[in-house]
Amino acid sequence: MKSATLPNDLPIAYESTGHGTPLVLVHGFPLDREMWVPQLEGLSAAAHVIAPDLPGFGKSIPGLMSTIDAAATTIAEFLTAVGITEKVVLGGLSMGGYIAMAFARQFPDRLRGLILADTKAEPDDDAAKAGRAKTMALAEEKGAAAVIEGMLPKVLGAATHEVRPAIVEEVRRIGSRQQPGSIRAALAALRDRPDARPGLTAIAVPTLVIVGDQDAITPPANAETIASAIQGAKLAVIPAAGHLSNLESPAAFNDAVKLFLPSC
Ligand code: MLT
Repeated sequence: MKSATLPNDLPIAYESTGHGTPLVLVHGFPLDREMWVPQLEGLSAAAHVIAPDLPGFGKSIPGLMSTIDAAATTIAEFLTAVGITEKVVLGGLSMGGYIAMAFARQFPDRLRGLILADTKAEPDDDAAKAGRAKTMALAEEKGAAAVIEGMLPKVLGAATHEVRPAIVEEVRRIGSRQQPGSIRAALAALRDRPDARPGLTAIAVPTLVIVGDQDAITPPANAETIASAIQGAKLAVIPAAGHLSNLESPAAFNDAVKLFLPSC
C-alpha cells in the first residue's frame, strides 16, 4: 500500500502496479481499493493500474466523502499528488462510476478514456432515498458488518452465491472493515448525487460500459442507457456476474478492458 497527501493534508491510500497508460480504478460502496486486486494483478502488463481508497474508506483515514462531485475533485487532486499529469483512463464501478462521470464533467481535459462498470446515470428516486436513510440507521446502530450483510444477496449474482463462496467471503471481509461514519457520509453523497444523463452526450473520449448480466442493482438496462448516450461507446455484458462483475468474473472483465485500452 502507498499513500499520497491531498492539498487539505488528508491521506489517500492506493495501490499501483504495471506501467504505461495510467488506468485509475475507483471502487464501489461500501468497499475499498482491494476490490480491484484482480485488475491490479491481471491488467499490470497492459497498463499502469492505480486503485485509490476514497476518503474515509480502506486506509484513507482520516477523511470523509462529502459529495460525488467533490470525490471527483479528490481524484484529480490525488493524481496531481502522485505526479500523474498526463491524461488517464478512468474506470469506476457503481459509486466509482458515478464519480468517474462527475470527473468527466469537471475534468474532460485530464481524460483519455472512460470505463463505467455496473453503474447508472439516473439519480436516486424517492424509494432509493428512503432506502439510504434505512441503511444510514443500520450503519449507526449495527455497524459496517450489518450493512454489507444486508447487501450481499443483491450485490453478488446468483452464480457467485452458488459456486464462488470465496468471493462472497471476500466482499464480506472488505465491507465489514469500513467505518460506520464513512458509510453514512457516502450514503448521503449517493442519495444527493446529480442526474448524470445530461453530461453523457458531452463525453468525447473512448468509453467502455461494462455490466454483469445478473447485476440486480444497476441492471443491463442502466448500462444500455449510458452506452447509447455516449458517442461510440462500447458495451460489454459479462456472463454469470452480478453487480461486482470485476470480482465475480475477473477474466472476462479484464479481457474487455484489454481489448478496449488500445483505443484510448
Ligand atoms: C455501489 O456498488 O457502489 C452502490 O451499490 C451504489 C449505489 O448504491 O448507488
